Amino acid sequence: MHEFQRVLDEGVLADPGKTLVEIDGEMIALFHVGGVYYALDDVCTHDGGPLADGELVDHSIACPRHGAKFDIRSGGALTMPAVRATKAHRVKVADGGVWVAVGEPPASSSIGHGAAEAAAPATAPQHSPQPAAAAASAASPEGAETAPAAAPVAAGPLSEERVREMLKEVKDPELFVNIVDLGLVYGVAFTDAEEAGKQRVLVDMTMTSPACPAGPQLIADTKRVVHTHPDVAEVEVRIVMDPPWSPERMTDDARDQLGIF
Ligand code: FES
Repeated sequence: MHEFQRVLDEGVLADPGKTLVEIDGEMIALFHVGGVYYALDDVCTHDGGPLADGELVDHSIACPRHGAKFDIRSGGALTMPAVRATKAHRVKVADGGVWVAVGEPPASSSIGHGAAEAAAPATAPQHSPQPAAAAASAASPEGAETAPAAAPVAAGPLSEERVREMLKEVKDPELFVNIVDLGLVYGVAFTDAEEAGKQRVLVDMTMTSPACPAGPQLIADTKRVVHTHPDVAEVEVRIVMDPPWSPERMTDDARDQLGIF
């Protein structure tokens, strides 16, 4: 059992409100919402952002660095790019003060039913897992010795399925999961290119957050990979933020890789 330490006088923190307190050298973000206090590590699990500096809306706090949101009741990660919970601590109000026991999980009554639901991503992804890369083991096309390393995946007629399979080579540099399984690829379309027999490919994709720092790299990698198909003359990537990405768009494979259940 971890010891409670008094961090504030009751009534000092506005409702809703948030502040930063230090307990034995650890920075703890303290929240007051609906008459209840909550405490989290002041650390975003994406890349260490200071949660107490973020925007508090109802029971969610947004990391000021790249926008990941956490449920203040449970610490659960609600939106990308964070996929892991930050630590939540038990809080009590007694003797006119607010007390925090660092390392002690919050009482289940303070987490509440809604928090538990919000913290756990839906188990049924909206997108089915894509078919396995069976074509990768197909016979190499003629001239394969001069083709780039990605050529085996590019083999076969150009189609949306083929492009999606190819795009599994493009991985989010922070999550190490491919953009197809993350649910970032919204659509693939084709039009005739000026060059006879070749296609212009339009890829609609989104980012895990509007300020995603990996955006330029993901766009460049998407173009490079799709361009390896011999029937492609041109690739355009269009960033679409509506509908916004949400963790429910991930396939079961992506969830497995990220340890989300
Ligand atoms: S550090 Fe918090 S979202 Fe990136």
